[in-house]
Amino acid sequence: MAVQGKGRGSFELLLDQHRELRALLQQIDDAFRRPSSTVEEIGHLLGQLGDRLVYHFTSEEEGGYFAEALLHAPQLIAKANALLDQHPKMCTRAKNLKLELQQIDSTGGEWRTRTAELFRAFREELMRHELQENIPLQEAYQRDIGIND
Ligand SMILES: [Fe+2]
Ligand SMILES: [Fe+2]
Repeated sequence: MAVQGKGRGSFELLLDQHRELRALLQQIDDAFRRPSSTVEEIGHLLGQLGDRLVYHFTSEEEGGYFAEALLHAPQLIAKANALLDQHPKMCTRAKNLKLELQQIDSTGGEWRTRTAELFRAFREELMRHELQENIPLQEAYQRDIGIND
C-alpha cells in the first residue's frame, strides 16, 4: 500500500509538471502574438522555459518516473527509453531559442516572426514528447486507483 501511495504521488507530480509546461508554452505563444511584447520579455520567458525543462527532465530521469510507470506497463520500456534519449537534444534546442533571440537584430519586426517560427516548431516537438509520456503515466495511475478501490 505504501509503495502504491508513493507511486501515485510521483505520477501526479509529473502530470502536474506537464500541465505547468503546457501553460508556460501557451504564455510564450501569447507573448509572441501580442504586438506590444518586447525581446526582453520573451527572452525572460524562454529562459524560464529552459530552466523548467532542465528541472522537469531531471525529475523524470532521477525520480523513477519510468521505473514506476513501467512496473504497470512493461511493454512500453523501449518506448520510454527512446523518450528519455530525446531530453538532451530538447534542452539544447530550448537554449538555442534564447540565444537566437539574443543575437537577432531586434530593431525591426523581423525578430518576432523568425523566433516565433522557431519557438512553434520546438513547442510541437516538446508537446509530442510529453503526450507520449502521458500514456504510460496515465495508464499506471489509473491502475493504482483501480487497485486501491
Ligand atoms: Fe520527458
Ligand atoms: Fe515530461
